[in-house]
Amino acid sequence: MCGIVGYIGGRQATPILLSGLKRLEYRGYDSAGLALLNGEGVKVLKKPGKIRVLEEAIDGHPHLATCGIAHTRWATHGAPNEPNAHPQTSSNGDIALVHNGIIENSDVLRAQLQAEGYTFASETDTEVVVHLIDFLWKDGPLENAVAAALREVDGAYGIAVVSSRDPEKIVVARNGSPLLIGVGQDGEMLAGSDAAAVIERTRDVVYLDDGDYAVLTPEGYRTYHLEGHEVDRGVQEVTWDLDSIEKGGYEHFMLKEIFEQPSSLADVMRGRLLEDQGDARLGGILAHQFDLGRIQRIVITACGTSWHAGLVGEYMIEELAGIPVTVEYASEFRYRNPVLEDGTLTLAISQSGETADTLAALKEAQRRGLKTMGVVNAVGSTIARQTDFGIYLHAGPEIGVASTKAFTSQLVALALFTLFMGRRREMSALEGAGIVQHLQVLPSQVEEVLKLNDEIRDLAASYRDARNFLYLGRGYQFPVALEGALKLKEVSYIHAEGYPAAEMKHGPIALIDEEMPVVVLAPRDPIYGKVVSNVEEVKARNGRIIAVVSDDAPELQGKVDHMIKVPHTLPHLLPVLTTIPLQLLAYHIAVMRGCDVDQPRNLAKSVTVE
Ligand code: G6P
Repeated sequence: MCGIVGYIGGRQATPILLSGLKRLEYRGYDSAGLALLNGEGVKVLKKPGKIRVLEEAIDGHPHLATCGIAHTRWATHGAPNEPNAHPQTSSNGDIALVHNGIIENSDVLRAQLQAEGYTFASETDTEVVVHLIDFLWKDGPLENAVAAALREVDGAYGIAVVSSRDPEKIVVARNGSPLLIGVGQDGEMLAGSDAAAVIERTRDVVYLDDGDYAVLTPEGYRTYHLEGHEVDRGVQEVTWDLDSIEKGGYEHFMLKEIFEQPSSLADVMRGRLLEDQGDARLGGILAHQFDLGRIQRIVITACGTSWHAGLVGEYMIEELAGIPVTVEYASEFRYRNPVLEDGTLTLAISQSGETADTLAALKEAQRRGLKTMGVVNAVGSTIARQTDFGIYLHAGPEIGVASTKAFTSQLVALALFTLFMGRRREMSALEGAGIVQHLQVLPSQVEEVLKLNDEIRDLAASYRDARNFLYLGRGYQFPVALEGALKLKEVSYIHAEGYPAAEMKHGPIALIDEEMPVVVLAPRDPIYGKVVSNVEEVKARNGRIIAVVSDDAPELQGKVDHMIKVPHTLPHLLPVLTTIPLQLLAYHIAVMRGCDVDQPRNLAKSVTVE
């Protein structure tokens, strides 16, 4: 979490830094700050709260400078107040540093620096690094002192540093937290936590690797490894454009991204469906068919919404490709001692490609000599680069903190992978072709679901004051129930639980009364009849039932309070269609409750700390 921007060039830095920060606000919004460098030294301004607050503070008092660094924070060490906001500065204010990550040995370093006479103005782990740079900086350029300090540091960081003792440059470094360089034109260079921070000025980016640091000057950039040697990381072009990270007329990014799903789903399938062969063409894994052919088991690891996609993946891959699958929270996987026999593929699912726990789980699997695969949205992200092979979602940037379009793209990417693996095992060409045909029409079916928006908004008005919600589903719909509950919790702060419908009688049924809305996922799949019985159980306790169905569901008529009807498709693809009404329901309830849907309290989109 946390977002970093840096600029050096011929223009005024402040507006460029603020605009970059706003594009990174999804990474955290507890406080924001910037440090500007001009002939008069380092000028720091920081404020608790969102970037808007910082911007208001700057308004009317612009500080002229053509070099600066900036930060938006998601608090880890210390409350989100002004002293803890970044940039952190050296005692005499001549070095300023912004940081994303966690310095794990900060307590030890802090004690050592205090013994050397340093006093600390904040509770952050970051301040340790800036004092350490000061302590180790005897002579020579800033980058030597930064590198010397980073060699003492354990943990994760993306940092940017400026100093009036060695002006006309920004030093950046990364280890475990993302950081890239934007190679501008006409003598300007940028840095950012991701490409969104720099795209207004350049599409040419250089992704730093762990252990790299770089020096940016108006003349260009040089990259080095902490071990001392210069490295060449190569320039890559960002393929998406600014429009895709603007709201485009929608009130919120979340709504825009929900409505983008017909096109994001078309994009994840583009060029990948082979109807004649009943197969999927997956360029990112084709060259690894041999390894995949030897796979005997798959461990899916992910966090949050991506973990829910993994659960759907488990059901699909086991049923249609016949490969045993387990799904693990990455945060659990990395610290237990899982049995990972030869022939196990570790599959990491991540929208951002930067989630610290998922990355650590991946590294643990690699340490054990296992093959790893990624299902990732952010092109060039750490997880995408760390895995042996993978499938990109091509969903475009997702800005709303609550994941929507990335989730449905993950489901389809997993369906494509299932098809690919199934066709290399027992699945017939005919069955494969049937799946391809259903996939082809999925985007237009999603269009149909989106037409329910007004109906769902009306429904939201009836339930906006509920204090609890229960979501029930079975089979492929159980992960959808979890995801529906998570969406509502995230954006509306209403307590919600997702449950396998049949498990309800082992506990949650005690919660049901006339106050309790229960969302039941009841499309006509092979387990529909069982779900109808579960509906009866809720009805008998006077629960208020919203059913998501895929036909007229005569068995449920008169038993449920509301019915939301989505088109029908194959059972393993139905989650794509049944999820969307739940996204809309959460969105509208949150808006009606006055919540900040795009930036819910305490959350961040990219969780780069454990
Ligand atoms: C955060 C986000 C969630 C997301 C999860 C995993 O908690 O708020 O929306 O599902 O991280 O992120 P990833 O980028 O790895 O999919």
